[in-house]
Amino acid sequence: MISEGVFTASYLGASVLFILSLGGLSHQSSARRGNYYGMLGMAVALVVTFLNPQVQSIGFLIAAVLIGGVIGYVGAQKVKMTEMPELVAILHSFVGLAAVLVGYNSFVESSGENFQGSGFLIHEMEIYLGVLIGAVTFSGSVVAFGKLSGRLSGKSLLLPGRHFMNLAIGLMALALGVCFLWTEDFQMKIFVLSGMTVLALLFGIHMVMAIGGADMPVVVSMLNSYSGWAAAATGFMLSNDLLIVTGALVGSSGAVLSYIMCKAMNRSFISVIAGGFGSENKNTASALSTSTATEPQGEVTAMSAEEVANQLLTSKNVVIVPGYGMAVAQAQHTIYEITRKLKEKGMNVRFAIHPVAGRMPGHMNVLLAEAKVPYDIVYEMEEINHDLPSTDMVIIIGANDIVNPAALEDPTSPIAGMPVLEVWKSKLTIVSKRSMAPGYAGVDNPLFYKENTRMLFGDAKVRMDEILKFL
Ligand code: TAP
Repeated sequence: MISEGVFTASYLGASVLFILSLGGLSHQSSARRGNYYGMLGMAVALVVTFLNPQVQSIGFLIAAVLIGGVIGYVGAQKVKMTEMPELVAILHSFVGLAAVLVGYNSFVESSGENFQGSGFLIHEMEIYLGVLIGAVTFSGSVVAFGKLSGRLSGKSLLLPGRHFMNLAIGLMALALGVCFLWTEDFQMKIFVLSGMTVLALLFGIHMVMAIGGADMPVVVSMLNSYSGWAAAATGFMLSNDLLIVTGALVGSSGAVLSYIMCKAMNRSFISVIAGGFGSENKNTASALSTSTATEPQGEVTAMSAEEVANQLLTSKNVVIVPGYGMAVAQAQHTIYEITRKLKEKGMNVRFAIHPVAGRMPGHMNVLLAEAKVPYDIVYEMEEINHDLPSTDMVIIIGANDIVNPAALEDPTSPIAGMPVLEVWKSKLTIVSKRSMAPGYAGVDNPLFYKENTRMLFGDAKVRMDEILKFL
């Protein structure tokens, strides 16, 4: 066992390590170091928690850590890179569920102690809020998991009078909250708490069900933020400073990420925070249900891998745009081999990353880092868009929505207003994908029918291997 002072100092040290971890994760070159700080912080937190004098049954703790650790290890080994967003969503749901369970436990425990006064009132408020945020996070994340993994339809579910329903749920939760704090009867309290939990679960389901395809990036980061606040609420319930700090770090960094995602998708942050955002706005993917944009609208010209290789050899300036299909095909290593070959020939080859490319924030950066692509040739959308008109050739690897000109040119498009990589401005655009199928938002892409666009049909890895061979 350790003294109170050592305990507090260790928690403080772990908090600092978590902050350093977040700082490291803000850039690719320092991300690995950031991860190490995070691991070290978590190790310190675990060890110190084990040694906490309040812990009476260390056997249970060790068993829980072992079981959880084995499940986590096996799960993480098995998960494919394309399934990462689903994994993240389901992990968020665990944080929410933990907050609900801790809330109930905390309530039952404290009610036996017969507390009185303002301290007790605050503790009960913490319990109520913790269970509320936890339940919304839990059910919302489960639905997000279903949508991201294709088990549930990606289309938005628009129930009649849904804003009224949300408002009614909010008001009922408020009224139940007052009742929970007011009444002194244990049975009544538990009844009210359970009623609110059901309402919060329904709210989480309804909120995420109402969100359509293209808006999912914001949902993922928003639930990330909610899971942080749920953890912070758990920290308040357990009077655990480290959990409060860690939860607040996750909650606030998730909120910043949501803001960045909103900007990338041209959505309003306030309406996101209000929940069920944009569903009646023609700018959103929810318009998909009425849109006919999924029908192919023109003729396309195909090119073979050999022709693409020959075109590459005559180009000086090449930009590669990776998208979700590159993750599916696992083509990043071959693409980097091609890049190295072209650079050896003195060509300027750069990568352009859209903020919502793939299925999770930073998805493409992770894949390119895995293939050891140097960071100094990887550019964000706003850094490279103005260079595209002077580019000889853009190669799009399994990307679709993020290079769709309809976002800028067609105000009726479900993705209208979303900033995109303006690849059609380059001299030649090659699109590597398997078919004419639309991307995540389910809309047709006029880029494919442009005069300076050539389609390279087939699995991206197979086609890139061929190009490499010809080079
Ligand atoms: P998408 O628009 O989804 O397009 C991916 C394309 O890859 C598809 O059109 C598909 O066409 C092609 N593809 C799939 N497998 C392939 C393979 N093996 N080889 C070659 N091509 C393949 O992806 P994007 O352009 O990256 O845009 C991301 C979308 O996901 C946006 O709508 C975004 O809002 C949404 N989203 C993003 C996130 C985050 S946080 N990034 C989270 C959730 C949703 P074929 O089937 O014809 O091959």
